[in-house]
Amino acid sequence: MAPLLSMFLGLLLLFSLQGASPCSAANDALAAGEALAAGDKLVSRNGRPSSAANDALAAGEALAAGDKLVSRNGRFALGFFRPSVVVGSSGVNITSPDWYVGIWFDKISEFTTVWVANRDDPITETQLDQAQLKLSEDGNLVISSNASIIWSSNTTANTTTAATAMNATISLALSDNGNLVIGSSPTSNVLWQSFDNPSDVMLPGTKFGWNKVTGATRMFVSKKNSIDPGLGLYYFQLDSTGIVLARSDPAKTYWFWSSKRSSNEPAISLFKQLMSINPQTRDLINMTYVDNTEEEYFVYFLLDESYSVYGLLDISGQLQINVWSEEKQSWQQVYTQPISPCTAYATCGPFTVCNGAARPFCGCMESFSRGSPRDWELGNRTAGCSRDTPLDCSNTASSTDVFHAIARVQLPSNNPQTVDNATSHDQCAKACLSYCSCNAYSYQNSRCSVWHGDLLSVNKNDGIDNSSEDVLYLRLAARDVLRLRNNRRKLIVGVVIGVCIFSLLAMLMLILLTLKKKLGLCGAPPHDGQCGGGIMAFRYNDLCHATKNFSEKLGGGGFGSVFKGVLSDSTTVAVKRLDGARQGEKQFRAEVSSIGLIQHINLVKLIGFCCKGDERLLVYEHMLNGSLDVLLFQSNGSVLDWATRYNIIIGVARGLSYLHQSCQECIIHCDIKPENILLNTSFVPKIADFGMAAFVGRDFSRILTTFRGTIGYLAPEWISGVAITPKVDVYSFGMVLFEILSGRRNTPGVHIANSNCVTFFPLHAITKLHEGDVHSLVDTELHGNFSPEEAERVCKVACWCIQDNEFDRPTMSEVVRVLEGLRDLDVPPMPRLLAAITKCSTLPQCDSS
Ligand SMILES: *[C@@H]1O[C@H](CO)[C@@H](O)[C@H](O)[C@H]1NC(C)=O
Ligand SMILES: *[C@@H]1O[C@H](CO)[C@@H](O)[C@H](O)[C@H]1NC(C)=O
Ligand SMILES: *[C@@H]1O[C@H](CO)[C@@H](O)[C@H](O)[C@H]1NC(C)=O
Ligand SMILES: *[C@@H]1O[C@H](CO)[C@@H](O)[C@H](O)[C@H]1NC(C)=O
Ligand SMILES: *[C@@H]1O[C@H](CO)[C@@H](O)[C@H](O)[C@H]1NC(C)=O
Ligand SMILES: *[C@@H]1O[C@H](CO)[C@@H](O)[C@H](O)[C@H]1NC(C)=O
Ligand SMILES: *[C@@H]1O[C@H](CO)[C@@H](O)[C@H](O)[C@H]1NC(C)=O
Ligand SMILES: *[C@@H]1O[C@H](CO)[C@@H](O)[C@H](O)[C@H]1NC(C)=O
Ligand SMILES: *[C@@H]1O[C@H](CO)[C@@H](O)[C@H](O)[C@H]1NC(C)=O
Repeated sequence: MAPLLSMFLGLLLLFSLQGASPCSAANDALAAGEALAAGDKLVSRNGRPSSAANDALAAGEALAAGDKLVSRNGRFALGFFRPSVVVGSSGVNITSPDWYVGIWFDKISEFTTVWVANRDDPITETQLDQAQLKLSEDGNLVISSNASIIWSSNTTANTTTAATAMNATISLALSDNGNLVIGSSPTSNVLWQSFDNPSDVMLPGTKFGWNKVTGATRMFVSKKNSIDPGLGLYYFQLDSTGIVLARSDPAKTYWFWSSKRSSNEPAISLFKQLMSINPQTRDLINMTYVDNTEEEYFVYFLLDESYSVYGLLDISGQLQINVWSEEKQSWQQVYTQPISPCTAYATCGPFTVCNGAARPFCGCMESFSRGSPRDWELGNRTAGCSRDTPLDCSNTASSTDVFHAIARVQLPSNNPQTVDNATSHDQCAKACLSYCSCNAYSYQNSRCSVWHGDLLSVNKNDGIDNSSEDVLYLRLAARDVLRLRNNRRKLIVGVVIGVCIFSLLAMLMLILLTLKKKLGLCGAPPHDGQCGGGIMAFRYNDLCHATKNFSEKLGGGGFGSVFKGVLSDSTTVAVKRLDGARQGEKQFRAEVSSIGLIQHINLVKLIGFCCKGDERLLVYEHMLNGSLDVLLFQSNGSVLDWATRYNIIIGVARGLSYLHQSCQECIIHCDIKPENILLNTSFVPKIADFGMAAFVGRDFSRILTTFRGTIGYLAPEWISGVAITPKVDVYSFGMVLFEILSGRRNTPGVHIANSNCVTFFPLHAITKLHEGDVHSLVDTELHGNFSPEEAERVCKVACWCIQDNEFDRPTMSEVVRVLEGLRDLDVPPMPRLLAAITKCSTLPQCDSS
């Protein structure tokens, strides 16, 4: 285990050792072997001031079960404990049969451990009487029972130099910050410390990072379950590539931030942003990032020491920051990453649906039951759910199994198989039935995808957005579906009974009819939601044919031209011919399949690709209403009404928020402008051209060459050359908001009344916002038909988005909340960089009068 190597790291670090000196009050400690009743505090028993607490153990001394070390400030204690939990639904107290040695918050009524020594080496009940935690003369910390070693810190001091020659003594001390340190004094050498060997908790002061000299990483690994602190499924670490949040079995990274994305500034901006913008953590935590020749790490400190705070990698794979509330006598979650618990890969286990907005967030699929209910209660959902009735696999040619639609979900994250020759719902369902291992299918855009084996990460609501229109058809035994239907019928009968027998019958018939349709008993139903799974590989000739030899150009962009095409099943598509893609076919296919996984109602859907010779083509769904710039700036008599504009604004914000936060790797669009916002027949906005960086390498210079004028949609950090973060998209989004608001391009400028001055529209807008006159900013073509409240909201958001300093700009998910009216914003300040650029150009004429 990599983190275990890092115990030698302590030798390199010089830490001040509070209370580790042999002259400290450690002589108040009980002699080894002497017992305290569980829960007794030495401090209060002796009635001594807290500085006299037994916070240290000298070499040769030992702690037995019932004893504990308490830090000088009384906040933390070290001792033997047995994990227990009261499970929510039944109120039953489940207690572990095994004992552990660990550190916990001593002043808090809810027993909360922050470090465990023998995570995977429990002390059994029979070993407990003889068990002791002993600091040996050479500085090794050992848990043993009746002479057999259960766990050891494996520390070895250089006794020649450290202890004998210098007359130094070795001791173990529990510091005020919860760090357990083996040190030698008077040299103050740290031989070992618990902060270098963390379990699943990051306390204020714990370094989160890696040592560049030894390569050792401080890895945080989640617990197995609520009563077993052993090494669990999820881990969190910062190594030479960046921050990784991943599952170990099956191995999958679900959250990653590359610190090498750009050379000058690494991941800190992300964390700082997240921390500083969240009002709950802003005044609580100070996050610092250190990157020198020896190590790279994050560390956080409390701005107010009176709070009790800890960061935890939860059993279900989510990072959480918890603050103790004295008032409520419970831990309050102030921050999570990822935002939704459903993002952690396969967190609910197979055949479950994860709903980030529900509590509990994991549930079984229809006609499935929990595989192991007790394990579920303890937070171990690896068994997921299993079928109530086995499938009918005796005869694949005429299986009696049927399909049950699970609507509005994100499709399973494990890759589906595409069945090319299934060209209808019916054939797709049949294709699934013909394999015993097939558990579900989806059919959309003439594409049939089937899933074999476990269905993982089927998410109903990722907590940011619940508008997925994908439908998954789950294969069930016919008996289960009949039962399902009967259950529903009973429910409906119960509600309607006594009203009227005729209406009852009529209703039942209606319901049966719709159910029949829904369940696909009479063949697969048609539906028109967004759907997806595998990406189709097109033949070049077919695309030539579909696009009439690339004759009907829809547009061009930084990455290539887009052509209209009609497929053989008369679906209209947009075919993008990439200019700058120089990768081999294999890598291209890999990028295509990862981009194909990014699906959201507000993102243009990738349907397929084609790869022939040097040609790289991408096939997208076609948007009938074209791009936003045409509708806004070249309206031929038709004006977008306010409600449509507001819906477009919210949609784009949601799409961007999804790109930034809920994909496995944060995707920065880098080219948000009206040309890249497409509208479907019902004017639902879809962002186009995302993920292009994957194809053209991280060379964005072509974007710089395609933007118009001096002030466009580019954030100042593009020009100054510092690292690019998702905030560049926020900036561009802000610029687009002004254009939607005014119905004009920002660039021509606005004449200031009674002067010859021309000002940049966004600046004019901030001035007007300060004056409380948003009305005059809104497109005159609307003739006052708009919601003043929404217009002001849009204007405020836009102004915050274009702030010079990226830390002042909100995140896209905050923008979504503001636009939805769930949050309010202060009046934005004037961005100085912008003001400087525009004011100068017109000053001479202004001053003359
Ligand atoms: C469960 O019971 C044990 C022993 O009866 C007790 O020590 C522990 O505090 C209880 N746990 C909870 C969470 O109440
Ligand atoms: C301790 O170990 C010794 C030798 O292995 C054994 O004889 C003795 O019974 C053990 N004592 C207990 C209490 O387990
Ligand atoms: C100490 O060394 C033993 C034997 O090499 C190993 O099994 C154990 O995991 C080590 N303990 C720690 C805490 O590294
Ligand atoms: C102990 O320290 C001495 C003096 O610094 C050094 O010569 C010796 O090699 C060290 N021994 C070990 C085992 O590290
Ligand atoms: C070590 O301690 C002994 C006895 O207390 C003392 O005589 C000796 O001078 C000390 N040595 C050093 C190097 O401090
Ligand atoms: C946060 O910590 C850094 C480094 O420890 C320090 O320079 C800075 O002043 C702190 N900020 C606040 C607000 O305390
Ligand atoms: C988790 O649950 C699975 C299935 O019920 C079980 O096999 C496994 O032992 C459990 N793991 C732990 C650590 O309890
Ligand atoms: C699709 O192809 C497979 C074999 O490649 C064949 O077994 C199946 O019958 C075909 N299905 C249809 C609907 O043509
Ligand atoms: C989406 O979530 C919001 C808030 O959680 C809820 O009000 C809304 O009804 C949900 N929409 C759907 C389609 O489930």
